[in-house]
Amino acid sequence: MTEIPEHLLKRSRDRKAAGGDASSTEVSAGAAVPATTGATTPTARVLVETEAQKPAKKPDPAYVTAAKTRGRIPSWAMATLALMPIFLFMYVRGLEPQKAEAQGPIALGMENYGACASCHGADGAGGAGRVLKDGESLKTFPHIEDMLNWVYAGTEAYEAAGVASYGDPNREGGAHYPRSYNGGVMPAQGEKAGGALTEAEILGLICHIRYDISGADDAGEWAEEYEKWCSPESQIFLDLESGTLTFESPELGIGTAPRLGTPADQEVMVAG
Ligand code: HEC
Repeated sequence: MTEIPEHLLKRSRDRKAAGGDASSTEVSAGAAVPATTGATTPTARVLVETEAQKPAKKPDPAYVTAAKTRGRIPSWAMATLALMPIFLFMYVRGLEPQKAEAQGPIALGMENYGACASCHGADGAGGAGRVLKDGESLKTFPHIEDMLNWVYAGTEAYEAAGVASYGDPNREGGAHYPRSYNGGVMPAQGEKAGGALTEAEILGLICHIRYDISGADDAGEWAEEYEKWCSPESQIFLDLESGTLTFESPELGIGTAPRLGTPADQEVMVAG
């Protein structure tokens, strides 16, 4: 129920006691008050009631009172509520499985390796495709550029181009040449050769095969290659993703057309 506040009632009483009309506003009858107020002389003064003197208003119905007195959200809680979207975001993020590695070529390669596992085995032990693990890929491809070119183009393009072998021609145990593994065919992966992978995806897969499956030591012998091509900060990977570089950029030494590989003890010739 709405009540007249006690301090207002008290002030009103005090002023009445102090001699009459101090709590009233005096208004000249000739000015704002209509004639019906019964002014008798020009000097007559009309008392206009102040708020405090009006009779108490009709009490509010219970539901209005409830709405008026119901607790509001305290201001300190607003700060907490304002952070709710952030909490929600962090919570949803927390539900996602953690990636084994920060984003980068290897993480991308792990995501896509299913496309290769059917022939090369989940751990690279081979099957319809050649063995990739235990350093085998590193022996065939001492230079990552040659591996990128081979996986991009595949067996049939090499055969069609009449290229005698892929990877290191002096490979330990003999060079690998097209269709030399039980007559099997390595399908082309690059877009121009009829495959479905982007160049950044091919690099990711090859980084995953070299460093996870074949066992290259990213802090030792292979550190330089790792930093340049396969680390999460690899500028080449970022540029392939954004399209600033392609396998055909001469400075990368990859190319999309089949070609002979480079022996381990020689530098890859940068084309162009
Ligand atoms: C349909 C089966 C098949 C699939 C799928 C396949 N490969 Fe192959 N891969 C082969 C065969 C067969 C060879 C040997 C080709 C040859 O002798 O001409 C090979 C060879 C390779 C080699 C050369 C290995 C060496 O040491 O000589 C690499 C590297 C390779 N594949 C990577 C990949 C990657 C990466 C993927 C997934 C994008 C993949 N392969 C998918 C069948 C496959």
